[in-house]
Amino acid sequence: MDIPYKKLDGKKVLITGGAGFIGSALIRRLLLNTQAKIINLDKLGYCSDLSSIDNLNEQIKIKKRYKFFKVDLSNESATFDILNTIKPDFVFHLAAESHVDNSINNPKLFIESNILGTFNLLQACLDIYKKKSITERNNFRFHHISTDEVFGTLGESGFFNENSNYDPRSPYSASKASSDHLVKAWHHTYELPIVITNCSNNFGPWQYPEKLIPLVIHNALQWKEIPIYGDGRNVRDWLYIEDHINGILLVALKGEIGTNYCIGGNGELTNLKLVEIICDYLDDVVPKESSFRELITFVKDRRGHDFRYCIDASLIRDKLNWKPEYKLSTSMKKTFLWYVKNQKWCANILKRK
Ligand SMILES: NC(=O)c1ccc[n+]([C@@H]2O[C@H](COP(=O)([O-])OP(=O)(O)OC[C@H]3O[C@@H](n4cnc5c(N)ncnc54)[C@H](O)[C@@H]3O)[C@@H](O)[C@H]2O)c1
Repeated sequence: MDIPYKKLDGKKVLITGGAGFIGSALIRRLLLNTQAKIINLDKLGYCSDLSSIDNLNEQIKIKKRYKFFKVDLSNESATFDILNTIKPDFVFHLAAESHVDNSINNPKLFIESNILGTFNLLQACLDIYKKKSITERNNFRFHHISTDEVFGTLGESGFFNENSNYDPRSPYSASKASSDHLVKAWHHTYELPIVITNCSNNFGPWQYPEKLIPLVIHNALQWKEIPIYGDGRNVRDWLYIEDHINGILLVALKGEIGTNYCIGGNGELTNLKLVEIICDYLDDVVPKESSFRELITFVKDRRGHDFRYCIDASLIRDKLNWKPEYKLSTSMKKTFLWYVKNQKWCANILKRK
């Protein structure tokens, strides 16, 4: 995949939410492949973890090219201050509260972080953007990382694409949909050069163990029940995190300003099927007297549980030559093994909540 990394060399690249699952993967990729100056801005919430970035020090010297700032984007003056100090050339906005169940229990936090936080960031970016020279403006991008959940739910067939109507149904997806609308409005009204990506479910290492794959493995290895909502027939479109990062970078560096791109890998699985695949994998790798499948327990369905998400990624494929590079079964096995080997990390990060 032809990612023009060189475009970022020497640039000040701000990544919000860089202590989270996807943000930290983006930072690792950029530190390893560019000479950009990376600024990570994160409030350090319960799911944040910087060890995957700090670990890079063993491979490369990151000290001169990487800075972390603890900032909560819902704090307007703190956001303005830091943006005016950094004056980034490029912004990747990933900071968000991201767990649907938490949004059902505490929606206010999602309004504050995902909507107000995005508003504050957009205003601060616009403030610095206006002070830039024409050349600097031409090179500036605000890349908003969003989700397919903003489009609501699909039936047994069909796909979401860039023309799908917004129809969010959980407080999380409604807050992300609102932030997408704000980003588009700041482009149309104030001409801020933005791009948006709406991606399907990601999997990979370093994901907080409240999300399905790490949660299942963590519970199973302690021989605890593996809870599955409803009848387990809900479908998600799974994509390996490195494929998402490829898509983000292609859109940021080659995408058309003002456009949103859907990213997904046709990795459709029902939740039950995915959990069975994990159990069968564990049966092979860490066999017990009984199968891990015995731990599967169906629990009361999540309120407003979307039935199916699936992405038609033809725009990013046709225009930017993106396609998933990693085979689903291989990257899943690699990911499962990472969690088997890193249970200590899972236990430690869960203790902090
Ligand atoms: N994980 C997925 O499958 C997926 C799929 C599509 C899109 N996304 C989007 O990608 C982005 C990153 O997702 P993730 O899975 O890495 O989430 P995550 O929960 O692992 O990380 C989010 C990070 O954002 C930080 N954050 C939250 N609110 C903040 C605030 N107000 N100020 C500063 N920092 C704040 C948190 O502390 C955390 O470190 C989110 O915007 C999410 O909506 C995720």
